[in-house]
Parts: sequence; structure tokens; C-alpha cells
Amino acid sequence: MKPQALAFLLSVAALLLVPVAALRGAWPWTGLWAALAVAAWGATRVWNQRDPIPFPHWAWWVLLALPRGRQSARDLLDVLQPGPDDRILEVGSGPGLHALPVARALEPGGQLTAIDIQPEMLVHLERRAAVAGLTTIRTRRADAEGLPFSDGTFDKAYMIGTLGEIADGDRALRELRRVLKPGGRLVIGELLPDPDFIRRAVLHRRARTAGFSLERVTGSSWSYLAVFRTGSG
Ligand SMILES: C[S@@+](CC[C@H](N)C(=O)[O-])C[C@H]1O[C@@H](n2cnc3c(N)ncnc32)[C@H](O)[C@@H]1O
Repeated sequence: MKPQALAFLLSVAALLLVPVAALRGAWPWTGLWAALAVAAWGATRVWNQRDPIPFPHWAWWVLLALPRGRQSARDLLDVLQPGPDDRILEVGSGPGLHALPVARALEPGGQLTAIDIQPEMLVHLERRAAVAGLTTIRTRRADAEGLPFSDGTFDKAYMIGTLGEIADGDRALRELRRVLKPGGRLVIGELLPDPDFIRRAVLHRRARTAGFSLERVTGSSWSYLAVFRTGSG
């Protein structure tokens, strides 16, 4: 296991112990676990920036339980605006917190393609989609740095909490630009306390370099959805 995955595990474990110690009135322990959670989170961030790794698949349930602020599935649908026949791509779907509502909104004629580099994440997504009876979603194990799709395949794309995990994120942005149709929409979401969190100004600069123009941003500095467009020609 890489050190950043160990540090992340430590931060989650310490965080879970904070309320346990507090409920017992063990205040020194509460402070200790809180300090350890923050220190381990900081170590994860530093390591991840040097050597990005995917969010550990064994912690998939965290992605479904974590409060998302202004980055909920509802908020995403508001800015993505899935049309009836849209072809939409999700990069780094995880277990599908956003994928299921997007696929539902595309019924009956649209289609969501959800990719993730970890097949274990897609197993959870496929199980949840089957339980929900969704037929407008298909999954594929793929790396964002080399998308296995032809130019101009998708009307829209989105990527939530994923860009900072990709070793060459700028290459992934260029790939998204390539597979989107002219005038296509890209939504990127970032949320603290994700150790790979990317600040808005940094994202805007990187997206502009990849050929996107910023349309609007919703949410706050620490939990936002940024909407971009490709050029029309
Ligand atoms: C923090 S999780 C977020 C999952 C989901 N978007 C959500 O908000 O719940 C990031 C996801 O991106 C995937 N990922 C990381 N690097 C990737 C890459 N190079 N290509 C495709 N997916 C990747 C990880 O496996 C993980 O499932």
C-alpha cells in the first residue's frame, strides 16, 4: 500500500474516533484524534500532489456517505441540464453518486457512459444501477489520460473530485476537449476536504489552456461546480 493510501486510512480512522471519544467525554482523546485526523489529511495531500493515486476503492462507501454541499446530484443536474437524446460522459464515476440520477434524467433516449480506472468502483456502480433498473447507463474501465472514444462523441461531460487524482490532469482535460462535440459542455466539481482538492483559479487556468472557456461557477470556494464550453468550431 502506498504511503498516501495509508495516511488516508489513518485520517478516516482518526476522524471516526473523534465523535466516539467526545460522546464518552474523553476530551484529551477527542483533541488527539482530531489532531491526528488533520495531520494525516495534510500528509495525504502532500504525498498525493507528488504522486497522485486513485481514491482507494475499499473506501467506496465514503463517497456515498460524504455530505457534498453545493455539489450534490441535484446541483449537478441543474448545471449539466441533460437533454433527452444527450450522450454524456462521466470520468471517474466511483460508485455512482452522480451517475444514477444523471442516467435517470436521460431516460428513455439518452445515454450516460461512466468510466473509472478502478474496475472495483464500476462493480459497485453496476450493482446500484441494476437495483435502480437503469438502462441508460453503460460502464467502461478506462484511463482519463487516453479516452477510448472518437473525436466529438459526447454532448456533455463531467468529472467530480477526480482531476487531482489523475497523474497528468492536463492531458485528461485535452482528452475531454477532444471527445466533446463543438460547443459541448464540461462540468468539473471539486470539494474540500478531498486531499486532491483543486482551487478554482487553478482549474480555470488549466481548463483554458486545454481549450475550454468558463461559462459559470456555482457553490463556494471550497465546494463548487465549474461549467465550461468547448469552442463552437
Ligand atoms: C474521489 S473519487 C470520486 C468519485 C465520484 N466522482 C464521486 O464524486 O463520488 C475519484 C474517482 O476517480 C477515479 N480515477 C482516478 N484516476 C483516474 C483516471 N486516471 N482515469 C479514470 N478514473 C480515475 C478513481 O478510481 C475514483 O473512483
